[in-house]
Amino acid sequence: MNSQPKLHILFTRQEIEATVKRLAAEISQDYHGKHPVLIGVLKGSFMFMADLIRRLDLPLEVEFIRLSSYGRGKVSLGKIKVVQGLHSPIRGRDVIVIEDIVDTGLTIAFLLDYLRKKKPASLKLCALTDKPSRRQVPVTIDYLGFTVPDKFLVGYGLDWDEGFRHLPDICVLE
Ligand code: IMP
Ligand code: MG
Repeated sequence: MNSQPKLHILFTRQEIEATVKRLAAEISQDYHGKHPVLIGVLKGSFMFMADLIRRLDLPLEVEFIRLSSYGRGKVSLGKIKVVQGLHSPIRGRDVIVIEDIVDTGLTIAFLLDYLRKKKPASLKLCALTDKPSRRQVPVTIDYLGFTVPDKFLVGYGLDWDEGFRHLPDICVLE
């Protein structure tokens, strides 16, 4: 039998709530008078997206996109493709991508490139967490929640092997 994974809380639900509130205020201010499309990257962003949009004081639309990801381990395979695309065109729209974590940056760099080709009026990135120590390609994060250490995180949408997404706090998996 495997030993039980050990979890410890890195950011509490209260800290997450305060951070989501801050990000929503920044976005509401910057997009005042606009009608952005928020594109959540599945599956990890679903909880963050749900909390964030409830605090946005704007008309907006929600889309999700699904990319092929890590497989079932902790290490990126480095090959990315779109598994589930967008349902509405984004040409001429103000687009904000909502991501759970920017790690090596390979996933988001691929996605931003893919979306840029669809000619949105603007394209920005909002990431809940950033693990800059592992970056392989440069990524500009326009709205960032937390900078995190080089640990594997779970909870608040983040998974390990599809588990732990439902945890309300962001935890380190040892
Ligand atoms: P990247 O391409 O290396 O930046 O990886 C980005 C994707 O890997 C994220 O969208 C997550 O789904 C996943 N990922 C990276 N680091 C973690 C982590 O610490 N916990 C859970 N998922 C992670
Ligand atoms: Mg993800």
